[in-house]
Amino acid sequence: MSSAKSSATSSATTAEDKTETSAAPEPGTGHQGQTFLVGDTIYLRRIELADAPLGMSWRGVRYPQSPERVETWIKEEMAKDRNAAWYGIVRKADDRVVGSARVGRAGGMAVILTLTVDPLLGDRGLAFKAEALKLIAPWVVEEQNRPMLIMHQAADEPVMIAAAGEIGMRQTARFREKIARDSERVDELVFQQLSPRWLDRIGDPDTVALERTGTGQPRPVPPKVTLDGDPPKNAAMVGKRVYLRPFEPGDAAEEATWLRREQETFFDIGRHLWSSIGAAQWRTEGQKKPLPSYVNFSVCLRESDEFIGSVDLIGVDYWNRYAETGSFFHRPAYRGGGYGSEAKQLLLEYAFEILGLHSLQSWVYFQNTRSAAALRKQGYTEAGRINWLYPNKGTLDNFVVFDLLASEWRAMPRAAWDAPASS
Ligand SMILES: CC(C)(COP(=O)(O)OP(=O)(O)OC[C@H]1O[C@@H](n2cnc3c(N)ncnc32)[C@H](O)[C@@H]1OP(=O)(O)O)[C@@H](O)C(=O)NCCC(=O)NCCS
Repeated sequence: MSSAKSSATSSATTAEDKTETSAAPEPGTGHQGQTFLVGDTIYLRRIELADAPLGMSWRGVRYPQSPERVETWIKEEMAKDRNAAWYGIVRKADDRVVGSARVGRAGGMAVILTLTVDPLLGDRGLAFKAEALKLIAPWVVEEQNRPMLIMHQAADEPVMIAAAGEIGMRQTARFREKIARDSERVDELVFQQLSPRWLDRIGDPDTVALERTGTGQPRPVPPKVTLDGDPPKNAAMVGKRVYLRPFEPGDAAEEATWLRREQETFFDIGRHLWSSIGAAQWRTEGQKKPLPSYVNFSVCLRESDEFIGSVDLIGVDYWNRYAETGSFFHRPAYRGGGYGSEAKQLLLEYAFEILGLHSLQSWVYFQNTRSAAALRKQGYTEAGRINWLYPNKGTLDNFVVFDLLASEWRAMPRAAWDAPASS
């Protein structure tokens, strides 16, 4: 009896031991049996709940998050996000997660790769990151059949730039002074990995020339308006002909109506229809937050208070102090007459002088030559191109990208008010 009991106990212990062994493999064996995304010193696997305790190494946030918070984020957000996949960059020697690779949708069929490694690992971390890039970018493009992968890369990481070159990535744009690092500003480079199969099929996008319209000349910045009486109702910025005020729910119905009447098809991938409720929701989203990443203004005529367009700051990054600018004049009568540039100058003053941003960028479809001409007259300079971002007319479309530094905008000549309003 006692021997039978002791034998049962001992076999139970053995089974438990076996279970523990299969749940927690010996350190350094986690990559065994994996047939791809395995390099010399690291391998990639999907992020799991067990990675929560090392969130500061791989999550890429610059503020503190406890393991409990990261675990909640993994369950509530990461696992439900259909637009991005998170991979852990794991050190082969001991199976410690040292960083992450996020592959997210970049619009159309393109994907954006964001690589993060534990900043405390210094140059060792950068080497892991470079190895991860060389594993994942060709896999995404060649095996996952994506036409294009895009990566934003700080210009002060030569190891990463060399790795991008080794796998044939092209540097297509440079956003000057975009990143704040150690009290200095660092440029951000854009690298693209293009699929050789798609290159064969639709040709090399770098041979597609950018058409330019307009004078290409920056115009003086209008001086500040001195108001005789009260400002227009709820105005935030006032110019000579237009003013900016917060978007109101009624504006959404107005925009939706004009979108149904749209005649131009060149400034986006065709025409769009918006629902008033949807537009009201996203246009006012930023109004609920103290430091909104989306800042939207309605542009109104001073003489009639008529709502004619909108200007916005997208993806405002208060840490690096940059944002992307956007403009949309839903009333076609107010396109091509300088209203967009006047409103944009008010937005630039708001962005640089009130929010204290350091740099701005703007992305424009190649065929939207009017918007590109307007940006040049507003003082932006070309930062390069982003190829193949969206499908359009049987091919993949290119974007021309621009940037503008606060220091450049401040150094631009100021106009006198008797200068022609639109020139
Ligand atoms: C983009 C937009 C905000 C620009 O504002 P705007 O008031 O039209 O711009 P401006 O009149 O100040 O400048 C337009 C420039 O384009 C040129 N231009 C005017 N009409 C044009 C046309 N149909 N095609 C090409 N270029 C044109 C003008 O010559 C001018 O350049 P120049 O003064 O150096 O000669 C406005 O046109 C608009 O809302 N367009 C529809 C939405 C859109 O394209 N949004 C931007 C998406 S990136």
